[in-house]
Amino acid sequence: EREDLPQVATPEALRPLLPKRPLTAHKGSVGRVGVLGGYRGEGLRYAGAPLLAALGAYRMGAGLVHLVAPEGTPLEPLEAVFHPVSSPTLPPLKVEALAVGMGGGPWGKAWALEALKAGLPTVLDADALHPEVAEAYRKAGLPAVLTPHAGEAGRLLGVSPEEVGKDPLGVAQALAERFGLTVVLKGNPTVVAEGKRLSLNPTGNPALATGGTGDVLAGAIAALLAAGLPPFEAARLGVYLHGLAGDLLAEEKGVGLLAREVAEALPWARKL
Ligand code: APR
Ligand code: MG
Repeated sequence: EREDLPQVATPEALRPLLPKRPLTAHKGSVGRVGVLGGYRGEGLRYAGAPLLAALGAYRMGAGLVHLVAPEGTPLEPLEAVFHPVSSPTLPPLKVEALAVGMGGGPWGKAWALEALKAGLPTVLDADALHPEVAEAYRKAGLPAVLTPHAGEAGRLLGVSPEEVGKDPLGVAQALAERFGLTVVLKGNPTVVAEGKRLSLNPTGNPALATGGTGDVLAGAIAALLAAGLPPFEAARLGVYLHGLAGDLLAEEKGVGLLAREVAEALPWARKL
């Protein structure tokens, strides 16, 4: 089996990766996630994005989610511990992994550089996805998963989104090599790359093309990192289950999904 050929993810290969839930599990033992994101500026607020990541983390099985987001975030998830902040800062958190950048807007880079101080496995998404940030994580030797869509991948590599669309496999590999990190290049198909390893995801459908589904994915992958999976495995499994959740929903409802529903469907997908 050549390692440089893309492998299509299969349920048989992924099932053994699902974190076990032992009878003695408690919320501190199954993976705690910190979500850092959101932005509050003049006349503009991205409040939902970090919330959706928190939902994605819980629905993927996280025991506890700490949500660090701008004060005044209107929708506080009842189950998360909310840390309201007036600027992008990292409060002391007892967590095993982070998801960073969702809805970060102009705060995106600062969120990512703050999060770096925690020295934890981290999912970098959305507005955290800048070359300087990825370079800082590479230098720090931290296990990080980058989750760009074509536009964000283009920004990371200095090429247009159209160029990314022409060769998603090549771009995912180029990003993984350039930054020495794990890369989830989202789209149809979503590609996961790390070093010489390359995986094609078979799940997901265009009903997922709706605001916030990527935020849910970032939180879901962070939950798997927090549960102890290595970055490539967390990325492949997270992407597969997120796509499967979208497939189950599309079968039931068709188009017109909400991102929060994709989060809600993750437990069913998790039964794969
Ligand atoms: N087929 C399969 N999957 C798809 C399709 C499709 N046609 N379209 C979208 N998806 C999936 C992607 O693979 C990904 O998992 O839906 C998700 C979309 O993620 P994003 O592109 O990150 O979208 P979103 O969550 O709305 O992003 C929120 O963050 O990335 C920034 O600028 C972006 O403001 C936006 C915000
Ligand atoms: Mg996004």
